[in-house]
Amino acid sequence: MDGSRLKGVILAGGSGTRLHPLTRITNKHLLPIYDRPMVTYSIEAMVAAGVSELMLVTGGTHAGEFFRLLGNGHEYGIDRLFYAYQERPGGIAEALSLAERFVNREPVIVMLADNIYEQSLRSVFENFDRQGGGARVVLSEIDEAEHLRHLGVPELDAGRIARIVEKPADPPSMMAVTGVYCYDETVWDVLPTLEPSGRGELEITDVNNWFVEQGTMEYDVVDGFWGDAGESIDAYYAVNDFVRAHGANKALA
Ligand code: TTP
Repeated sequence: MDGSRLKGVILAGGSGTRLHPLTRITNKHLLPIYDRPMVTYSIEAMVAAGVSELMLVTGGTHAGEFFRLLGNGHEYGIDRLFYAYQERPGGIAEALSLAERFVNREPVIVMLADNIYEQSLRSVFENFDRQGGGARVVLSEIDEAEHLRHLGVPELDAGRIARIVEKPADPPSMMAVTGVYCYDETVWDVLPTLEPSGRGELEITDVNNWFVEQGTMEYDVVDGFWGDAGESIDAYYAVNDFVRAHGANKALA
């Protein structure tokens, strides 16, 4: 596919409270994963999969550090890098809404900057392109039911996602929805209709369930390791250990 047509949005705002006190003094996505800041892995993943125009959404008191790290993005292989500032951590879907004019009703790939994948995401983007509209999420198999109780979990029915349940007491599958989302232009019609959840945030799971209800949600299952480095301090170190030993964003042979 001509990945250069695809626009990417990286979300690097939020509060990072689960990594306090580290995230009292910096933005979570500037913390190191092995030998470089966390946010550079999502940029690398996007660029390696063919995205050349990116918007980084961040917030809080350390937003300026992203300029120092990323500059105009050329060193990272980005042709055009845009920035948006999220005034308060109002949720993943609210952060995405700041990218509306940048994306301009074209297909978009959204990535959470604390998610790290062992393997390249290129095939996900190619599959989304072939899909010709709708949305696509990336699932990862999870061994422990307890872990799933903190994640978004799909109920699967005959190879389709029937719904996604956020932090289920009784997980409907052993899969988690990870932090990469592909959307067509209808995402911009859904975002303004969202109501804040119990925790006062606009939830990306509500966006994803809207596409599920339209019957236009597809998925891939990741090969290899996936980690959310912001989930806990133990998860942060597990991701560090994995990347140090095995690397990340590896192209399939
Ligand atoms: P979360 O990990 O759900 O939220 P958080 O980063 O605020 O952390 P915590 O729950 O520990 O306080 O968010 C996942 C990603 O989404 C995160 O890496 C950054 C992004 N995000 C935003 O860009 N804006 C937001 O308002 C939120 C909540 C998250």
